[in-house]
Amino acid sequence: MFSLRWLLGAFHLIIWGPVTLTVTHAMLPPPPVQCNDSGCTLYNSYGVWNDRKDCRVPSITYPTTEEELRLAVAHANQNNLKVKVVSRFSHTIPKLACPDDAQHGSSMLISTLKYNSSIEIDIANLAVTADAGVGLRELIDEVERSGLSLVPAPYWEGVSVGGLISTGAHGSSWWGKGGAVHDHVIGLNLIVPARKSEGYAKIIRIGGRDPLLNAAKVSLGMLGVISKVKLSLEPAFKRSISYDFTDDAHIEDIFMDHGKKYEFADVTWYPSRHTAVYRYDYRVPLNTSGNGEYDFLGFQPNSILVSKTTRSSEKLLESARNVNGKCALATTFVGFKKLVANGLKNGPIFTGYPVVGHQGRMQTSGSCFIFNEDRHLLCLGSKNQWPVLLRDNSNISCLKIWRFSPRCEETERPLNQRIFAGLTSTTVS
Ligand SMILES: Cc1cc2nc3c(=O)[nH]c(=O)nc-3n(C[C@H](O)[C@H](O)[C@H](O)COP(=O)(O)OP(=O)(O)OC[C@H]3O[C@@H](n4cnc5c(N)ncnc54)[C@H](O)[C@@H]3O)c2cc1C
Ligand SMILES: *[C@@H]1O[C@H](CO)[C@@H](O)[C@H](O)[C@H]1NC(C)=O
Ligand SMILES: *[C@@H]1O[C@H](CO)[C@@H](O)[C@H](O)[C@H]1NC(C)=O
Ligand SMILES: *[C@@H]1O[C@H](CO)[C@@H](O)[C@H](O)[C@H]1NC(C)=O
Ligand SMILES: *[C@@H]1O[C@H](CO)[C@@H](O)[C@H](O)[C@H]1NC(C)=O
Repeated sequence: MFSLRWLLGAFHLIIWGPVTLTVTHAMLPPPPVQCNDSGCTLYNSYGVWNDRKDCRVPSITYPTTEEELRLAVAHANQNNLKVKVVSRFSHTIPKLACPDDAQHGSSMLISTLKYNSSIEIDIANLAVTADAGVGLRELIDEVERSGLSLVPAPYWEGVSVGGLISTGAHGSSWWGKGGAVHDHVIGLNLIVPARKSEGYAKIIRIGGRDPLLNAAKVSLGMLGVISKVKLSLEPAFKRSISYDFTDDAHIEDIFMDHGKKYEFADVTWYPSRHTAVYRYDYRVPLNTSGNGEYDFLGFQPNSILVSKTTRSSEKLLESARNVNGKCALATTFVGFKKLVANGLKNGPIFTGYPVVGHQGRMQTSGSCFIFNEDRHLLCLGSKNQWPVLLRDNSNISCLKIWRFSPRCEETERPLNQRIFAGLTSTTVS
């Protein structure tokens, strides 16, 4: 809760009144690795790394079994190659998945794209063991089909089990073991380089009580290749969620209490609007009626046209130093989010609080992954959009934004409460 959160999707969320979407096919994110005769280029989901430099890698391999994964590590070890793992969509934002930034030429990538066939559920022991390449959505659906629930999960479902464990991905909770998925890992297999006599690579099985587990689970891909992850589960449950869009007065006192009171509490703060959005979010028994879902607005399909329009409007306002315009834009954002309850819904569209639904549908989302023939949709992560936004942004210094944005309505707010109006449309919480 309250960390820089994963609402990046809201970046391109927008609302210029009803928009007609006329073009005809959807786009899934492209594969993160593209190869030609001279080697491969690794992209992140935005299509641009933070240093604006490409990540070139001579080769990539796509193992399908744990043994093939071990052989890939053995090959790298034997040939002295630097190696990193990359998942199906690669949603890491920093350049973590790039094996050799300096591009010396002696490196390789191992993709978990095709290593995703096994999801084993142990109902009696409330546990699931999955191949590292399994997608979070596939994992959650399988777990729910067995009458169980995964308690913590990040908001974005386009990640792999191995990737999210490696980077400490989290949802929102202070209760129990907390909202970070790795704190619910009760075992994993790690493939590490080994001596020639051991075949150059070996699989280490790390159990729940092994002190090595703490090092291995959030290892940023540095300790070896995670091949299997075992997570603890609970009997299936539902969640009840309501949002309160309200004044941000005393937010600094309220949020602790809010976090303690509600299992999946969450607070989004729009300082320039003096608005706090408190999420009243707690579990309810399975027999509570309701079949709602949380289809987070920022991860819904968006039109390229709409995204570009928003960005160019922001750009104009920025170049004109138009504080009022930016604040108006921010107000529109918050108003729209309130209207559609951030994507929370009881039916096709929001039909009132509280929204009650199965755990598997109330935390993690990414409906832009669903192919829709009728409209020209854009999934967050499509390279067609992000470079436009990021490159456009690249010439705005933080300092300029800082000077420009804080003063939506009053200038006398304490410095620590002045934050970018621009971030209201970006929504960082
Ligand atoms: C739109 C968006 C929304 C997001 N929402 C959230 C959120 O709500 N909460 C949150 O905490 N995070 C969030 N994130 C961050 C995301 O969870 C992390 O970037 C996560 O690591 C992505 O997982 P991935 O499977 O795409 O991993 P990748 O990007 O492929 O890899 C991430 C790192 O892990 C390593 N790695 C991957 N698989 C393995 C493996 N099998 N063995 C060893 N190393 C491996 C890679 O080498 C790399 O260093 C979001 C990111 C985006 C782009
Ligand atoms: C291969 O792709 C890279 C990166 O996109 C490009 O710079 C290079 O010219 C391409 N090489 C060939 C032979 O097509
Ligand atoms: C494995 O990935 C493929 C796409 O690469 C997907 O079609 C399939 O459903 C995935 N399987 C599982 C079990 O997640
Ligand atoms: C749900 O089940 C419990 C017992 O398992 C029962 O006490 C309760 O009344 C039920 N609630 C509803 C809404 O059916
Ligand atoms: C970025 O801004 C600087 C100074 O404000 C300007 O000189 C430069 O041309 C700009 N670059 C781009 C790519 O717009």
